[in-house]
Amino acid sequence: MANNLLAGKRGIIFGALNEQSIAWKVAQRCHEEGATFVLSNAPLAMRMGEINKLSEECNAPIIAADATVVEDLEKVFSGAVEQLGGKIDFVLHSIGMSPNIRKGKGYGELNYDWFQKTLDISALSFHKMLHVAEKQDALNEWGSVVALSYIAAQRAFLDYTDMSQAKAVLESIARSYGQRLGHLKKVRVNTVSQSPTKTTAGAGISGFNAFYEYAERMSPLGNAPAEACADYCVSLFSDLTRFVTMQNLMHDGGFSTTGISEGIVEAITQASAGSEA
Ligand SMILES: NC(=O)c1ccc[n+]([C@@H]2O[C@H](COP(=O)([O-])OP(=O)(O)OC[C@H]3O[C@@H](n4cnc5c(N)ncnc54)[C@H](O)[C@@H]3O)[C@@H](O)[C@H]2O)c1
Repeated sequence: MANNLLAGKRGIIFGALNEQSIAWKVAQRCHEEGATFVLSNAPLAMRMGEINKLSEECNAPIIAADATVVEDLEKVFSGAVEQLGGKIDFVLHSIGMSPNIRKGKGYGELNYDWFQKTLDISALSFHKMLHVAEKQDALNEWGSVVALSYIAAQRAFLDYTDMSQAKAVLESIARSYGQRLGHLKKVRVNTVSQSPTKTTAGAGISGFNAFYEYAERMSPLGNAPAEACADYCVSLFSDLTRFVTMQNLMHDGGFSTTGISEGIVEAITQASAGSEA
């Protein structure tokens, strides 16, 4: 259902790897709503070639960038302004990676060099993006910047290891830079805290299926799918949410404010009946 909510708006979408990616769905929805945008991802991810399909579908140029490298980000922002023909109205940061999770290190045995890499890729890259956008004066007034987060920033989820700290930093950057860009340019900066979602990054976390199911049973509305996250991002990029800024917005079907649900009570009751039998 398209409503032309983003007609005439120009954007940059970071992090579409394949059809499962949340950024992929956001790109498709932004296209439907009339936006033009540049797609960006790490050179390594580009080699998989999937992004070319999305680029064709959305008529969106691609500019490769390692989001930890400021010079790469400078090229993305200046290239986007040039290729799209004006300043940028919206940016999506949909980037996350932990070498510790990739290599199966538990929380008690983290490699600290990798920990720093996790923070650089998954959190500091957001600061670098906002910094480059500010220095280049690349954002339009009343623009909107969104990064994707997860509730492990507030609550302990052991298998999420150092990504929990990365998300806490990410959310804090959204507040600090939101304050700065609000004053300077009337630009809003928010994070969306999304339900567990079956993507490449999601599936990399050990025990993912269990906490996907747990969140599904806990949330009154069920887990929010990637498509719904894309709808929410569109609303945040649109002019309908111009005074929402410096927030961590829960997009989780009610998970974060549920204590216990009937589904969990039933599951535990059944499991304990089974163990007593
Ligand atoms: N999948 C979930 O359960 C879930 C839940 C909440 C939040 N999120 C967040 O959503 C965002 C998108 O993840 P996703 O689930 O769509 O998975 P995904 O694997 O499709 O996306 C992660 C992206 O990060 C990119 N990336 C990694 N290192 C990079 C670098 N150095 N420079 C540029 N890009 C780099 C990858 O190429 C990939 O496109 C992440 O921030 C993730 O933490 C995911």
